[in-house]
Amino acid sequence: MSSYLVTGGAGFIGSHLCEALVGRGERVRVVDSLVTGKRLNLAHLPQVEFLEGDLAEIDVARRAVEGMDYVLHQAAIPSVPRSVSDPVTSNRSNVDATLNVLVAARDAGVRRVVYAGSSSAYGDTPTLPKHEDMPTNPLSPYALQKLVGEQYLAMFTRLYGLDTVTIRYFNVFGPRQDPSSPYSGVISLFISALVDGRQPIIYGDGGQTRDFTYVANVVDGVLRACHAPGIAGQMMNVATGGRISLNELLATLCGLLGVSTTAVYKEPRAGDVRDSQADIGRARRLLGYEPGVNLRDGLERTLAWYKAGQGADRA
Ligand code: UD1
Repeated sequence: MSSYLVTGGAGFIGSHLCEALVGRGERVRVVDSLVTGKRLNLAHLPQVEFLEGDLAEIDVARRAVEGMDYVLHQAAIPSVPRSVSDPVTSNRSNVDATLNVLVAARDAGVRRVVYAGSSSAYGDTPTLPKHEDMPTNPLSPYALQKLVGEQYLAMFTRLYGLDTVTIRYFNVFGPRQDPSSPYSGVISLFISALVDGRQPIIYGDGGQTRDFTYVANVVDGVLRACHAPGIAGQMMNVATGGRISLNELLATLCGLLGVSTTAVYKEPRAGDVRDSQADIGRARRLLGYEPGVNLRDGLERTLAWYKAGQGADRA
């Protein structure tokens, strides 16, 4: 048995990581400020040790990593528009806290830190799919902050010999994604609108595309990244490798739900990327990663969860 710290473990992706780790019989500790996470997301996992605190305070980071073999750093304020309206608060969560986690992990002798990077680091690229050797072009404070985080990881590997790996996520969705904020992920917002009989909002013309990735694929990639040999200091995409426009996404969800709701179209959001699609060759090569759940199956599983009313409990 190894010990794992999941920062942001009461959040959407973090809670899925905890579930998978507990299922493997690992020891799991969560640190979460509960700013966007919820205790309810871990209610079914009484084995998980829970520490409430803000990682932007170094003492919290030190207490959290003490005695841990692996750190899965998921804690963040994960929203482009929220970072545009309040860059200082999101910088504290996304950059200051990350630096504290790295310092604490270095001093505590953690075996590896695996970091939740973001596809937003690429910005708009002249070609698709986006591969890791492309130059970065952050278009929002959020994108820049996640990029700074991953560069801190690579630097900690070079400078201090701390073993770190960054996984760039691409628009992750699935059960427990909270639809209650205007900053929530678009799939959770579309589904909650359709299930409640409201019209979803599309910012822009709906022609923007995303590589929507079901959460189980990300969990698989991250857990592989904990143990793959010889990848210290590396960064890689973990996604599905396809892309779909928001208009097509809405039509697919309407089809699966048997409704014919149209969207309300509004001005595009500042800082928005036009197209996003991952090249997943590096993760295939280094991790043996394959996206096990395709978009349609992921949407069906997610819809089943929202229709069962569980989304509403958390709103
Ligand atoms: C971005 C990052 C992603 C990161 C996420 C954190 C990119 C390509 N992706 O996601 O890696 O994890 O931030 O939040 O930068 N939209 C609507 N209606 C809505 C809500 C959103 O049309 O009600 C649109 C947005 O304008 C955007 C798309 O849907 O074009 C996806 O938005 P969202 O789910 O917030 O994620 P990204 O900003 O793409």
